[in-house]
Amino acid sequence: MLRSMPTDAVTMDKIVSLCKRRGFVFPSSEIYGGLGSSYDYGHYGVLLKNNVKNQWWKAMLQERDDVVALDSAIIQHPRTWEASGHLAGFTDPLVDCRTCKLRFRADKLEDAQCGRKPSKHPGETPDCDLTEARDFNLMFETTVGPVKEEGSTVYLRPETAQGIFLNFKNYMQFARKKPPFGIAQIGKSFRNEITTGNFIFRTREFEQMEMEFFVPPDEAQSWHQHWLAERISWWTSLGLRPDHLRLRPHTADELSHYSSATSDVEYLFPIGWSELEGIANRGNFDLTQHATFSGQKLEYVDTATGERYVPHVIEPAAGVDRALLAFLVDAYDEDEIEGEQRTVLRLHPILAPVKVAVLPLVRKDGQPELATEVYRELRDHVQAEYDEGGAIGRRYRRQDEIGTPWAVTIDHQSLQDRTVTLRDRDSLAQVRVPIGELVDVIRGRLGELWRSPKLDG
Ligand code: GAP
Repeated sequence: MLRSMPTDAVTMDKIVSLCKRRGFVFPSSEIYGGLGSSYDYGHYGVLLKNNVKNQWWKAMLQERDDVVALDSAIIQHPRTWEASGHLAGFTDPLVDCRTCKLRFRADKLEDAQCGRKPSKHPGETPDCDLTEARDFNLMFETTVGPVKEEGSTVYLRPETAQGIFLNFKNYMQFARKKPPFGIAQIGKSFRNEITTGNFIFRTREFEQMEMEFFVPPDEAQSWHQHWLAERISWWTSLGLRPDHLRLRPHTADELSHYSSATSDVEYLFPIGWSELEGIANRGNFDLTQHATFSGQKLEYVDTATGERYVPHVIEPAAGVDRALLAFLVDAYDEDEIEGEQRTVLRLHPILAPVKVAVLPLVRKDGQPELATEVYRELRDHVQAEYDEGGAIGRRYRRQDEIGTPWAVTIDHQSLQDRTVTLRDRDSLAQVRVPIGELVDVIRGRLGELWRSPKLDG
């Protein structure tokens, strides 16, 4: 959703360019000319993504005792999608232009450009010849088995959530869980989106972090409020600036078919305020539908009292790729050091792909040997990187651009007294630390509360 534009230095083009330059994200299949809206995550992208997912798991599993984990199949029984409503209703209305042969979302014509005259919207020029709108299902279809025959059609899941509902019965029996409790899952989802774009914001293949929280029906509203607060606090605890985050309740005509109330966590991206995570009250829609379609009882029964009910579901559903984009955008900064322009990712240290870089000042006099020793010690504890090539200033700049919060420099003095300098990415302060204390110092800093320096500048 486009509402107001942010004012800081960051633009989507700068993020795309930094991601490619530094090996976070590459356009997919580039040697074949690329495949629209498909991206590959490079080394630092993988590390950053893993850190985001680990923080989500930590908040869901380690810091609570009412959520358990699941990793369900991507291809599920096709009846799943009949029951969930996706087969009938997960559609976008499309129109084709017979003149320019382009296809547009009928409900988003005002955001699209005419194929012949980009200053106009489709349908606005005398040459435009649009078809009637037709519904187009967003699920990717494929077949199981070698022959395409009746009953062999299956779908790539468009959300991870349904795998959780299909396993509800297993968790009632084997995890001995009683509502309120949740099942969390991270995994790939697929949607044949018509309008993609804005880098990794909307793609056809993406990762979701979803949790279905099953509650007694009369507690649904208060648990919805609980999860709205929890999720906002998770995003801000990882450094997103509070003034770039907001909760936006859906209007009645925006609500999905399953939802009685949804609020989006929105972030102020360079494209304007846009959805980062949806937090929905799904009521008992999914369990009731799957019970009807499968003929199985999907309910909670209290063996002591005989009480039985179909739990209601509160669902925080976030996108990993969109999270990555928000963290990158929020962290991106430019400043000047001694007259030289610097690009720096001011990522929360816990998210930074590399925590510490180890750099010998020069590539001689025993410095690389001591630096390698320090690097080997550090990498047992945190993600570390060793770099001895090129001028020290350029090596700092490189680490700044990938968001490494600390750099350890081994110099002439290090060989004499086994101390090193520890440089801070944000304050640029350098302190001398004995090699023997480095691990504890870095661990201590990683455990400290962190606040984006962009809030102060
Ligand atoms: N189970 C509910 C559900 O899937 P959603 O709002 O459609 O709800 C949840 O998706 C989150 O998944 C979104 O907030 C967004 O972060 C991410 N997401 C959805 N479609 C996406 C796409 N095409 N590309 C990247 N991320 C997407």
